Amino acid sequence: MFPPGFAWGAATSAYQIEGGWQADSKGPSIWDTFCREKGRVFDDQNGDFACNSYELWEKDLECIQQLGLTHYRLSLSWARLLPDGTTQHVNKRGVQYYNKVIDDLLACDVLPMVTLYHFDLPQALQDRGGWTSPDIAILFDKYANFCFQTFGDRVKLWITINEPYVCAKLGHEDGIHAPGLKEKGTAPYVVGHNMLRAHAMAWHSYSSVYREKQGGAVSLAINSDWFEPLDPGCDEDIAAAARALAFTLGWFAWPVFVTGDYPEVMKSAIDAQSEKLGYRGTSRLPRFSEDEPTILGTADFFALNYYTSRKVKPRGGCEKTLSTKSDQDTEEVVDPSWPISGLSWLAVVPDGLRKLLKYIKDTLSSPAVYITENGFSQVGPLQMKDVHRCEFYKSTISELSKAVQEDGVDVRGYFAWSLMDNFEWADGFSVRFGLFHVDFSHAELNRNIYQSGQEYANIISKYKSDQ
Ligand code: NOJ
Repeated sequence: MFPPGFAWGAATSAYQIEGGWQADSKGPSIWDTFCREKGRVFDDQNGDFACNSYELWEKDLECIQQLGLTHYRLSLSWARLLPDGTTQHVNKRGVQYYNKVIDDLLACDVLPMVTLYHFDLPQALQDRGGWTSPDIAILFDKYANFCFQTFGDRVKLWITINEPYVCAKLGHEDGIHAPGLKEKGTAPYVVGHNMLRAHAMAWHSYSSVYREKQGGAVSLAINSDWFEPLDPGCDEDIAAAARALAFTLGWFAWPVFVTGDYPEVMKSAIDAQSEKLGYRGTSRLPRFSEDEPTILGTADFFALNYYTSRKVKPRGGCEKTLSTKSDQDTEEVVDPSWPISGLSWLAVVPDGLRKLLKYIKDTLSSPAVYITENGFSQVGPLQMKDVHRCEFYKSTISELSKAVQEDGVDVRGYFAWSLMDNFEWADGFSVRFGLFHVDFSHAELNRNIYQSGQEYANIISKYKSDQ
């Protein structure tokens, strides 16, 4: 059972579905640029056309209705609304497009959850330093104000920034996401810091200017795996798993929900590593300034993107290591009993979601939680009868209901990733997360429901009729 008014949703993001990359004066984003650099994306693919939702929005709406969703999570393309990233030039056609999407959703009794930033910074702002520049927080706040003002009469659930961890690490350390920087030192921490500042400024703007009239809620979407010790009886492994959580969930959740600052274990581990690397005097992890708006308390709910779980031990010679993280001094492995979905990083661990939710409840003072993303990937030959994904949704939603019923977690909604197959970043179109298949080989880009989409629709209808 789920509480009355529970949000049953699916999610997408602008660059991954819209296409129309130059339509009606849209400005370029960092993903438009990144995809044009050879070798960055699978088969040098790009999101120029993607699902063409810019022109085929009505088809998306049909899918949303076919599933019986109560909520739909979409993102706004900053560069479509403000081609050079600033409020000096507003693209009216971009505003019209999102107005139509929002109005159509509401006319069908589907509530929008809107993300302001989902990886696609206007290129014009990247040229001014992007997320590494301290000015970006002010520019983001102006963009956020513009969106609250323009759409906030109808949008009541806002996500400022999607997965700051991924932007910081994959975009600025590993170089596998736009803008493709490979800077191991301070850049990812500076990016994360500026994202927190930007988020907090936007939340404060909403609270002081819009909240009373519009009555909505604002948060940021934090991604985290569930981490547990490789050997639950070993103190070092227990500490390593705690560090992994601190460096992923804690990096963004502690400042916003717990202390207004980064987790102690994160600060001390980075400082220790910095010393080893020969950084003198300055910390690689920025500190929050007292002259700026506070970070603590700047979320009206917890928005969680959960995909998978990991077993963790301290760094040093673990067999079958999936990843090694130097600042946090850990290695991560996948339990052999966990099935792997299409992507190598995506072990299927539905009960990890329940454990992570319990952890969030216990450490972050029982916030209201929305699962803003969760999904299962398919690669290789197309399978419309995707039985493994059917199982995945059934068992995940059953774990979710245990989190609500047995653990008392205040879960308010669940958004499957994704409504339909789309441009999966560096993996291009080779990875399919959709509840609907999109036929990218034909110009019509027809959407057809997978068996798992039907399964999800059945689950939604059952829970709706139980209420
Ligand atoms: C999280 C991201 O927000 C989304 O854009 C991406 O497609 C999914 N993870 C799957 O990798």
